Parts: sequence; C-alpha cells; structure tokens
Amino acid sequence: MERVLIAGATGALGQVIAGKLLERGYRVRGLARNPDRLANLVARGLEPARGDLLDPASLAAACRETDQIVSTANSFMGSGAASPTKVDVAGYTNLMAAAKAAGVRRVVHVSAYGIGPDTPVDYFRVKARVDEVIRSSGIPWVLLKPSAFLDVWIGMVLTEIGAGRPARIFGDGRRVSNYIAASDVAEFAARIVARPEIAGETIDIGGPSTLSALDLVALIESHLGRPAARKQIPLIVLRLGARLVRPFNELLARFMAMGAWSAAADRRLDHWRAAADRFQLAPMTAEGYLATIPKGAGPGHG
Ligand SMILES: NC(=O)c1ccc[n+]([C@@H]2O[C@H](COP(=O)([O-])OP(=O)(O)OC[C@H]3O[C@@H](n4cnc5c(N)ncnc54)[C@H](OP(=O)(O)O)[C@@H]3O)[C@@H](O)[C@H]2O)c1
Repeated sequence: MERVLIAGATGALGQVIAGKLLERGYRVRGLARNPDRLANLVARGLEPARGDLLDPASLAAACRETDQIVSTANSFMGSGAASPTKVDVAGYTNLMAAAKAAGVRRVVHVSAYGIGPDTPVDYFRVKARVDEVIRSSGIPWVLLKPSAFLDVWIGMVLTEIGAGRPARIFGDGRRVSNYIAASDVAEFAARIVARPEIAGETIDIGGPSTLSALDLVALIESHLGRPAARKQIPLIVLRLGARLVRPFNELLARFMAMGAWSAAADRRLDHWRAAADRFQLAPMTAEGYLATIPKGAGPGHG
C-alpha cells in the first residue's frame, strides 16, 4: 500500500484525513513538531515523523519513501517569528524541495476557496503564494479549495454562547457564505488520494448550505432550543481596528480583517455539486452538522 505523509497531522483537519487514510489501509506518516500530539493516531498505526516546515533536514527524512503528501499545515494562529507571513511560504518551499528530491509522486494541498493575492487578509495572501509554490513545484499537484468550515464558524458561535457572551455578528450579518464540514473536506482529500490520475487541478469544494451569519445563529438557537443575544460589529470598526491593532496584536488584527472580509460580500460557491457528484459524496448541511453536536456541548466544541 502507498505511504502518505500528512503535513499538518496534529491539526483539526489533518487528524481526520490521517484517520480516514489509516482506516483505508494506507501507510500514513504524520509530520509533527511535537510527535506526542500524535499519540491517538500512533495508537491506530500512524508513523510519527518529528519535523518542522522550517527544518529542511527533518523534511527530507519525512519525505523518504513517501508516495503522496497531503498538506494542511499552516500558521494561521502564529504571530511574530511564527507568523504565516514568516513561516508558510518558506516552509512550503522547503517541503516541496524535499518532496521533489525524494521522488514524491503527488501533493494534495488544502488551500481555501475565494482567496487571492489581493485579498485584504494577510493569511489569505500568504495562502495564495503557497498555492503558487505548490503549482510551480514540479511535482504533480491537486489544490483542494474548500469554502468556510461549519466546524469553525458554528464552533465559534457555540463557544461564545456557552461562555455567556453574545454571538458576534460581523457587519450587518446579511452577506452569505457557503459552508462545508471539515469531515467532508477530509473525505474529499481521501478520495483524491485514491485517484492518482488526478493532477494539475484546482478543485473547489463546498456544501449545500449557503447562509448568512444571522441565519447561522438562528439555526444554532433552534438547535439549542433557546435564544441567543447578538452583538454586531460594524465593518468600519473591523477594518479600522485591524489596521490600528496590527502593530500590537497581529492575531487580533488577522481575525478582524477576516471578519471584515467575510462580511463585506457574498461568498457563494454555487458549483459545489460538481465536485460532490464527481467524487460521489453528499456533503452535510448546516442542520445535519448541528445534529451531530450534543445539545449540551459546552464552550469550545467544534
Ligand atoms: N477554517 C475554515 O473555514 C477554512 C476554510 C477553507 C480552508 N481552510 C484551510 O484548511 C486548512 C485547515 O487546517 P487545520 O484546521 O487542520 O489547521 P490547524 O488545526 O490550525 O492545524 C495547523 C497544523 O499546521 C501545523 N504546523 C504549523 N506550523 C508548522 C511548522 N512550522 N512545521 C510543521 N507543522 C506546522 C500544526 O502543527 P503543530 O501541532 O506543530 O502546531 C498543525 O498540525 C488550513 O490550511 C486552512 O487555511 C480553512
């Protein structure tokens, strides 16, 4: 069976992809800066590989005898020396060089839908540059571009409500976004791993739910069976705030810029059925995702 290296195996999505590939009998190697964080997957047969995107020698070892790479690693939460602006482009350049030297046959990289070099969020501009690093690596590649993760956006609202805070609504809360569950993103990735003939393709993936922030909070209220307070943060506050706080708090600035970006325009992905049909997958709705969450789930779920 093929060996697949997961770069990002300790992350929320990387863990699920690793689990799915292990279930299907692949030899799965997980890159981790701290392999202790892989204990659950190691118990299921994952081979840990201590490594860092910024350490080329560790990547050379991790790529040895590897057929494919699935990459989800990213520094969204980082700032200062660990900022995505400092780590991700250099890190993926290192990873692709190590993969090429080791003869890796393909990389399936998880990017994001709707981002580009001019997106007003530093992390998204970095992601667009990473996409370019992958495309120009000389290794057959697939770029998987998911819409917003239900887990993240529903998790954020549940955390706020669970902590007794109002649900934050960016802007007027009326612009819509397409949503997909992380487990569906993982399933797309696993099905692509099984189709080695797919290469040189950017694949947009989303789900049946296209909702505004207000719709999402209403669904969560109906799931919990109780009303939730809302707090609207005007676009101008998010945009100006992002600029003002950036020198002192890069991460808060990133969240504010992302909030403004998500609230400024509709983020539809009306062609979501194309990939769903192609890979014979029925992505979850927001209601279906909520039904998987126990009603008493406390802060932090998601
Ligand atoms: N959230 C959304 O709505 C959304 C939408 C579309 C696309 N996406 C994309 O989907 C992907 C989701 O990934 P995720 O949720 O699994 O991310 P995550 O939970 O934040 O995990 C990040 C992973 O990157 C690893 N990493 C960071 N810096 C590293 C370095 N220098 N060397 C090696 N590993 C490093 C982390 O390892 P450590 O354990 O060592 O920290 C961790 O495994 C991201 O690329 C995201 O941009 C998200």
